[in-house]
Amino acid sequence: MNQKNEKWDELLEETCGLTSPGMVKSLLSVKECESLLALISKANGNFAKANKPFNGLKIFKDRLQDNSQNERFVIDPPRENESLTSWSKRFFQGEAFGLIMNFLEDYENEIVEEMASHVAPLLEKQGTPWAGLSTLFFMGDYGYTPFGVHRGSPGEDGILFHLGPATKTFYIWETEDYNKLTNHAASYHNVEEILHAATPYVLEPGDAISFPDDMYHVANTEEFSVSLVLDYRRGAKKTIKEMLITEMLKVNLQNGDLLAHRDESNLLKALDFQKESEAAVTRLKLRLGSNGGFDKKSRIIPFTIDLAGTYKLKAPFRLNVISQQENLLLVFSRGHEIYTPKNPLLLEVIDCLNSGKNLHVSTLNIDFTPDSPGMTVFEFLIRIGETDVIEKV
Ligand SMILES: [Fe+2]
Repeated sequence: MNQKNEKWDELLEETCGLTSPGMVKSLLSVKECESLLALISKANGNFAKANKPFNGLKIFKDRLQDNSQNERFVIDPPRENESLTSWSKRFFQGEAFGLIMNFLEDYENEIVEEMASHVAPLLEKQGTPWAGLSTLFFMGDYGYTPFGVHRGSPGEDGILFHLGPATKTFYIWETEDYNKLTNHAASYHNVEEILHAATPYVLEPGDAISFPDDMYHVANTEEFSVSLVLDYRRGAKKTIKEMLITEMLKVNLQNGDLLAHRDESNLLKALDFQKESEAAVTRLKLRLGSNGGFDKKSRIIPFTIDLAGTYKLKAPFRLNVISQQENLLLVFSRGHEIYTPKNPLLLEVIDCLNSGKNLHVSTLNIDFTPDSPGMTVFEFLIRIGETDVIEKV
């Protein structure tokens, strides 16, 4: 962890606090890269199983997006324990390809677990961005990025973790230079024509590079490689306002009373936006904090509790609590909202888990009388278990 801490310090110094491009060597170890590669393969399998529309999946062949590949992908994704390298050889039969998948956290909780602990030191130093973190990945042997030189969405800074196996070269342009060379093109396909004005960064497995949202960039990967991108979403102004308004709507559920106020100034007084927006900011902060900074909630998993078992909270997640009324608690667990009756035993359990200690379920002497404190705790443990926030020791 300390070593990771230093690596993040190095990246923050290199990038002046993520405001300019910069890279750091070996932010991830070989083992950490291997583990993420295996989890991405698993996420691909889960994507196929989810059988939803192809949200966020883009497959390129011959540098052109080819939607007919999506159907094939869903029928024949990486098998259990099959590496991305062998799957892509089998699937693309040696033809050059590129594959991008957004919102990986929708398909595999463990990716969020690993990434959240890798970036925890960064969030401690730099803060959690208000629109939260998100992940995507791309892989292939496509040469230059199929859609050419481009830049990201406003408010989304990217931190790219290169996982290998091959190296990848990343090129970044100063915005002014790019605009001059391309006459302000939104994206640019004749990459080599303007390559002379870019700064190259050679990425080996484990290296990370960060660049601000407004900088034009392109990657080149001649041989098969995989990169995972963490979007550090400061959020465009509108996004933040929208998120807070959504959150505000949940603060005061007695909005029906407002109808009684016919008078303008009385209505404004009753709305009390200041108080509600403060509560909304707190909620958003606690929600993101419960989920390692990630915006999307965890996937709900089936969970049964072993009454003789010992459990602990998965680091770096937290059970963040807001007292609602006298007897009601709202607990954020991996982005989910759990309402539960409050009692001293429950508060003790939450404290125990948040402090990283082991929870021996047998010592709680759960009595299974309806509405008893023990029963509340039992039900609470099942509900947080389903959010995939605890693990058996
Ligand atoms: Fe990009």
